[in-house]
Amino acid sequence: MRYAIRAAFFDFPARLIDAAQASSHARYIEDGVLLIDHGKIIQLLGWEERTQVFDWEEYEYLDLRGKVIFPGFIDTHIHFPQIGMVGSWGEQLLEWLEEYTFPAEIDYQDRAFATEMAAKFLDQCLENGTTTALIFGSVHEGATDALFEAAERREMRIIAGKVMMDRFVPDALCEEVAESYQQTKNLIERWHNKGRLSYALTPRFAPTSTPELLTAVGQLKQEYPDVWLQTHLSENPQEIAWVKELFPDHQDYLSVYHHYGLTGPRSVFAHCLHLEEAEWQCLARSDSAISFCPTSNLFLGSGLFNLRKAHQHNVKIGMGTDIGAGTSFSLLRTLSEAYKVQQLQHYALTVAEAFYHATLGGAVSLSLDDKVGNFLPGKEADFIVIDCEVTPLQSLRQARCRDIWERLFVLMTLGDERNIRQTWVNGRCAFQRHDN
Ligand code: GUN
Ligand code: ZN
Repeated sequence: MRYAIRAAFFDFPARLIDAAQASSHARYIEDGVLLIDHGKIIQLLGWEERTQVFDWEEYEYLDLRGKVIFPGFIDTHIHFPQIGMVGSWGEQLLEWLEEYTFPAEIDYQDRAFATEMAAKFLDQCLENGTTTALIFGSVHEGATDALFEAAERREMRIIAGKVMMDRFVPDALCEEVAESYQQTKNLIERWHNKGRLSYALTPRFAPTSTPELLTAVGQLKQEYPDVWLQTHLSENPQEIAWVKELFPDHQDYLSVYHHYGLTGPRSVFAHCLHLEEAEWQCLARSDSAISFCPTSNLFLGSGLFNLRKAHQHNVKIGMGTDIGAGTSFSLLRTLSEAYKVQQLQHYALTVAEAFYHATLGGAVSLSLDDKVGNFLPGKEADFIVIDCEVTPLQSLRQARCRDIWERLFVLMTLGDERNIRQTWVNGRCAFQRHDN
């Protein structure tokens, strides 16, 4: 239960006012020791400082020198029922939903199938170093129970919710407002704030929501003010035009959500690729967060997220894999694509900023930074053990690196799940990679 783990460590001890300045706020301890006790971080120290502080006898000592330990990755946007249809060819958002996504989600009405998939889904997260995620379920109450049960078994800190939708979807997925409200309420009562689990109201997006459904979502947010809210915003030009048609009285896409009381510090909007100035301002004023999903945005040809603009407006950012429009569970791969998306817009994303968004910045955007995201005393002990050299190419490239920033940048650019050697959740090793 008590461990003293010796390795190199990388984190951000404090929330950043300006993520673009991340390089000067990172903490890198080349030879450190992390003390954990019953799932909580006691302290992170330099190896030389250790003797004054702790009694060796009380801790199980693990020598992981040669590895770098990061806080667990935080995925701020991912779909549980889309694990089986990642990499579906040829279509952009609206056709992709019709052709591949809705049919895949229908299968989750089968509770046994959902249970089997929930285990596979969360194990994929752990193998990729993701310890916390904000997760879209399917429309089914039972499948959402299955997801929470699987997360509870793994002691993972997740926030998830049943999708709500009541138009323009296949009959098998289409709800009545009253049942959507009631099933959501049941799930909140069962799971919200149960151990490390929390609930997110999950209206899929404006086009599949009638005004009556959005009213019900707003009512739930009023009844349970501390639940989260997740949805999609401004991903694709046809989607945006459709929202204008369906909600002609609203000034822009975000105004629809804002009107129903769905913006706020616990609201996370995925994508946000084609925002108007007023929408940026509304996100900032309401303290809402954005999930930046580069592999998805490239895969569906949706557009390029403007990180510089997000900084100018001081809007919180987290990273999202957006499985299954996104193409990898790996936050390393996701950051590597984020770098390329920003290069196309002449913004040179630093590796420090990238890792900030995947760790503490993600925690801030989910309002979980009092619990996870770095190695401060009292935080929950979720972390990942990374080997920066698991392929011949990585080794020869790392040999030319002159400092830690270059080493981490090469990790981000060439890395993937093979670099994640262990994933620790709540103070115990939940995944250990055995292959090479
Ligand atoms: N917009 C509405 N639903 C979805 C979805 O499942 N994936 C993505 N990428 N965008 C959406
Ligand atoms: Zn999505």
